[in-house]
Amino acid sequence: MYNTRLDGLTEYPFQRLAALLAGIEPPPGVSPVIMSIGEPQHAPPDLLFKVLAQNPHDWGKYPPTSGSPDYRAAVAAWCARRYGLPSGFLDPDRHVLPVAGSREALFMAAQLCVPPQKNGRTPTVLMPNPFYQVYFGAAVMSGADPILVPAAKASGFLPNYAGVASGDLERCAMAYLCTPANPQGTVASLDLLKDAIRLARKHDFVLVSDECYSEIYADAPPAGALEACAVLGEGLSNVLVFNSLSKRSSVPGLRAGFVAGDAELIARFSKLRAHGGAVQPLPVMAAAAALWRDEDHVADNRRLYRAKTDDAAGIFGDSFGFYRPAGGFFLWLDVGDGESVAKALWREAGVKVLPGGYLARATSQGRDNPGRSYIRVALVHDRERTAEALTRMKQTLLGVARTSLPQ
Ligand SMILES: Cc1ncc(COP(=O)(O)O)c(C=O)c1O
Repeated sequence: MYNTRLDGLTEYPFQRLAALLAGIEPPPGVSPVIMSIGEPQHAPPDLLFKVLAQNPHDWGKYPPTSGSPDYRAAVAAWCARRYGLPSGFLDPDRHVLPVAGSREALFMAAQLCVPPQKNGRTPTVLMPNPFYQVYFGAAVMSGADPILVPAAKASGFLPNYAGVASGDLERCAMAYLCTPANPQGTVASLDLLKDAIRLARKHDFVLVSDECYSEIYADAPPAGALEACAVLGEGLSNVLVFNSLSKRSSVPGLRAGFVAGDAELIARFSKLRAHGGAVQPLPVMAAAAALWRDEDHVADNRRLYRAKTDDAAGIFGDSFGFYRPAGGFFLWLDVGDGESVAKALWREAGVKVLPGGYLARATSQGRDNPGRSYIRVALVHDRERTAEALTRMKQTLLGVARTSLPQ
């Protein structure tokens, strides 16, 4: 006996990739480089280890679901600084909860927000297509109908939720928005965020804004949904923002993040998490609070990503649809057939990348999978290793392009 909703999910992209590459070996003498997973390999800041060592007595305590007051205060202060929020706009006790990584909390958000029915029908959950795979799994496992909203090149790599069919909007319980977007690196403007919030309030659904790449950007700091709420001036209703230290501070293993927003939803989230949410150990929370309070290491981190993107621009120029992502650390390259290119890159260059089709779906309206012709390349290694891997990739891609040209 098991929950048959699970049958609505494909294997997770990394399992699919392992199956695709099974039996293929990288070339002998070449050091393999894994660029399929967005797992930052920059050195974590020293501050982390210093503060982690300061609270050994706290390992003997069960951490409270709502975290430590100090952690919530550090997060609220960071949000206020980063987004220029008016004083008191975000109350650490009413609007903020710690989460043990945003991934798990983004999944749980659907259990929080999706009712059994909305307006007498099965609820919908909107998400961009391509999308972070957790959104789809969360929607399906909560019993909602996932609605995939095009976020391909033609729509500027962002979804237009106002254009969703009115029947699907009326039964909408929740919409995921990812900015900067994984995989395309697009950043939603403040106006887009304001429109999305207005739409959520009009149709009474929850806007879940996934902002975990917010601190990795090319030029200007991306706007955020908390900022959009402040500008709209009507509080935080219908909005939940998720962020984490995984990318900002290069500590994906720390599992330290937060959710902030609508006070009623936060109170309900706290109740739900008390029953089954993962919590952060108190010594981890203390270290994480110190990291939210420090911006120096974040600026260093950003500089390194920018240098690597410069190198990538030098290597690719405008070939394979290369563009500089406005945010995040992925290249989203248009290579023709993502799966066969991923195989060629592993076999010939020893570089592992993710076929874009694994991050998107063909929709029931007969649209082709909008990620099919892409590969996603995570620039997560040090600068030298990244440049070397990209150079090897380019050689292979040129070879693939030559052999697939009409003879
Ligand atoms: C778009 C997006 N959201 C959320 C996450 C989750 O990150 P974490 O759980 O480390 O906070 C990731 C991780 O890769 C991601 O790409």
